[in-house]
Amino acid sequence: MGSEALFNSLFDQWAEDYDQAVAGGHPEYIEVFEGYANILKSVVDSLALPKGSVVMEFGVGTGNLTSLLFAEGYRVIGIEPSAAMREKAKAKLPDLELHEGHFLNVPSGLPSVDAIVSTYAFHHLTDEMKDQALRDLVKRLNPGGKIAFADTVFRDEGTKLAMQREAEERGFHELALDLKREYYPVMSRLERAFCQAGLTVRMKQLNRYVWLMVAELNREA
Ligand SMILES: C[S@@+](CC[C@H](N)C(=O)[O-])C[C@H]1O[C@@H](n2cnc3c(N)ncnc32)[C@H](O)[C@@H]1O
Repeated sequence: MGSEALFNSLFDQWAEDYDQAVAGGHPEYIEVFEGYANILKSVVDSLALPKGSVVMEFGVGTGNLTSLLFAEGYRVIGIEPSAAMREKAKAKLPDLELHEGHFLNVPSGLPSVDAIVSTYAFHHLTDEMKDQALRDLVKRLNPGGKIAFADTVFRDEGTKLAMQREAEERGFHELALDLKREYYPVMSRLERAFCQAGLTVRMKQLNRYVWLMVAELNREA
């Protein structure tokens, strides 16, 4: 089963309240979304591309990162599997070029791009799917192109288990289930996925959960 089949209904339901959650309105997710605006800005700042550059965004959601990309003067091609999320993004950004699709299913006929970005979405893929997605994505990049993601990553398996336990102990049952059900990677495995796709990745922690990942093609790749 594809990840889109697993998580679409969840995001169709979450679309209505999503912007409240990122603003701190969901008590269990306050730490996950802590510094949300800065997290999105870090992704955009890491690109430093000329105006008019083409950026492909995966898991657009309600269009919050997209708005910042537009403000930088980039052309954005959005990919989003959830119909309800696409509706929200289009309501906010009527001119957005937005396609139904996901990391492993990009509509045909789209141009190559200068950057690929995503926030809070890469963890929907299993480790093996992440490997495949990165191998596919590098083929879409123009020379000198970049990939910039921000998402939950754990330093190691011990930290991941401790954070799951902590969520349970705090009575954060939804978060605890989410941390177990989805495919939050550990750092070494994620670095291997980027490396195997011919990318050099730099990682920086932005809050207790979320890391910025900025990857560029190796020169010999
Ligand atoms: C937590 S929201 C993040 C939305 C937005 N990027 C943000 O930072 O606020 C995750 C988004 O990823 C989308 N998504 C789920 N599975 C995906 C996949 N396999 N590929 C791309 N996007 C996916 C969901 O529909 C949802 O809109």
